Amino acid sequence: MCRLWWSLWLITLSHPFNIALSKLEQIPTPPLPILPLPTFSQLKWQQREVIMFLHFGVNTFTDSEWGTGHENPAVFNPVGLNADQWVTTAAEAGISLMILTAKHHDGFCLWPSKYTDHSVVRSPWKNGHGDVVQELVNAAKNRGIDVGLYLSPWDRHDPRYGHDLSYNEYYLAQLQELLNNYGSIREIWFDGAKGANAPNMSYYFTDWFSMVKELQSSINIFSDAGPDVRWVGNEKGFAGSTCWSTVNRTSLSIGNASIVEYLNTGDPNGRDWLPAECDVSIRNGWFWHRSESPKKLSQLLEIYYNSVGRNCLLLFNVPPNSTGLISEVDVHRLKEFRSAINTIFSNNLAQKCSIKASSQKGGKEAGFGPENVLDSDHLWTYWTPREDDEGYHWIEFRSIDKGLRFNVIRIQEAIGLGQRIKRHVIYVDGKRIAEGTTVGYKRLHRLEKGVVDAQIVRIIIKESRGVPLISSIGLHFDPFWHPNGQLSS
Ligand SMILES: *[C@@H]1O[C@H](CO)[C@@H](O)[C@H](O)[C@H]1NC(C)=O
Ligand SMILES: *[C@@H]1O[C@H](CO)[C@@H](O)[C@H](O)[C@H]1NC(C)=O
Ligand SMILES: *[C@@H]1O[C@H](CO)[C@@H](O)[C@H](O)[C@H]1NC(C)=O
Ligand SMILES: *[C@@H]1O[C@H](CO)[C@@H](O)[C@H](O)[C@H]1NC(C)=O
Repeated sequence: MCRLWWSLWLITLSHPFNIALSKLEQIPTPPLPILPLPTFSQLKWQQREVIMFLHFGVNTFTDSEWGTGHENPAVFNPVGLNADQWVTTAAEAGISLMILTAKHHDGFCLWPSKYTDHSVVRSPWKNGHGDVVQELVNAAKNRGIDVGLYLSPWDRHDPRYGHDLSYNEYYLAQLQELLNNYGSIREIWFDGAKGANAPNMSYYFTDWFSMVKELQSSINIFSDAGPDVRWVGNEKGFAGSTCWSTVNRTSLSIGNASIVEYLNTGDPNGRDWLPAECDVSIRNGWFWHRSESPKKLSQLLEIYYNSVGRNCLLLFNVPPNSTGLISEVDVHRLKEFRSAINTIFSNNLAQKCSIKASSQKGGKEAGFGPENVLDSDHLWTYWTPREDDEGYHWIEFRSIDKGLRFNVIRIQEAIGLGQRIKRHVIYVDGKRIAEGTTVGYKRLHRLEKGVVDAQIVRIIIKESRGVPLISSIGLHFDPFWHPNGQLSS
């Protein structure tokens, strides 16, 4: 009985249902993602490309990098502090997130924590009524810039350090202050830095991370081991020339020197989406020192190509000076840096080319054609070949008139559906000019040979996890790039 009703129901419905299905099949759908995928917040983070770190505290006044914890709070007196100037500097450098050292290893707190008096409260600055975290948050809000915080786990001042329970309670209490009272915080930074003679203690990272996620929904947690953003394994600002956003979190631990190589390159078989951040200072030190000056523009560009150009974020430290301002030389260098990047990337010679590809998913009208690599969407429109296409997948640019003169090739994957490309090669007029492994959100090839003049550029994907999805390609001219000291005309 039951079975009969069931068959009748099927017969009645099968006909119209089939028609609806076949119509649907004609609308080409995006390919399945290849896991793991970024979270919403990780994807937003990736698109920032460059973020700013501000190392500021008692060390700014004592000419040191690692304070002892015995500093007199009276040394902290940035009489001209103006967070608007910091934020303007960042905004003009195209930076949308600024991370402040709310507390460094010396334990001095830049906000009036109620759990310690080793803070701005006992400093002469604003007669003890100042709050640097609040000043940054207010200034950033006015310019639509996001804020992140660093709260050093290692604390050389607080007597609870070395006592697991009481120090972890203290640390969690401060996390609650910072994440409850200052609005939306987009990144929190934990590191494993610790002096050789520091007392032995364990940090309750699991408790810390849970608390952070509870208090801030769109935050990314940075540490050697994530859970959202991983360290790149060095402080030079250089990612591995192979750099996967994927890694196995279970193979990572915080403050473990034997994993730096793994952090630098990631893992093509990694189960977790955990992209890398490259922290480096615009100067030699992290804190401001009168004797130091910013790195040269060519060094900053080298860092950019080796971090952003290798699928990573550049966390650029720009330390305010003892007046409480970012020094004019640093402001100037940052402006030069941004203006150089704009000069290089605002003109895409590929726009003046005809484009061809080995194949495209779903045919001409399907929306997955090679022309997608030239639109302004760098995530959700892309060229993808047919899945059953045999041989290597390739995309080719052919100059429409005069020829192409460039020295930088930019490739971007639609990482919203997973990082895929494992190996790619670039040919110019039939000659191999560059090759690489991973691409990810952005891969920049700055040509070692210098400028090339060409008619045809072909990018071949030699190996990938599933079909490649390429969201953007650029052929650019970098007038600041002079390999082997050679001057380009
Ligand atoms: C630190 O603590 C761990 C775990 O309790 C122990 O194995 C190690 O020997 C200690 N190290 C020092 C320097 O006390
Ligand atoms: C450091 O990492 C290595 C490699 O993953 C691992 O074997 C070792 O147990 C880790 N050490 C600590 C202290 O976590
Ligand atoms: C990471 O995990 C995957 C899946 O379990 C495994 O195939 C791969 O070998 C792991 N990578 C490392 C370095 O252990
Ligand atoms: C800090 O930078 C500002 C802006 O360039 C400058 O006016 C001030 O003199 C600097 N302070 C110190 C101590 O160098």
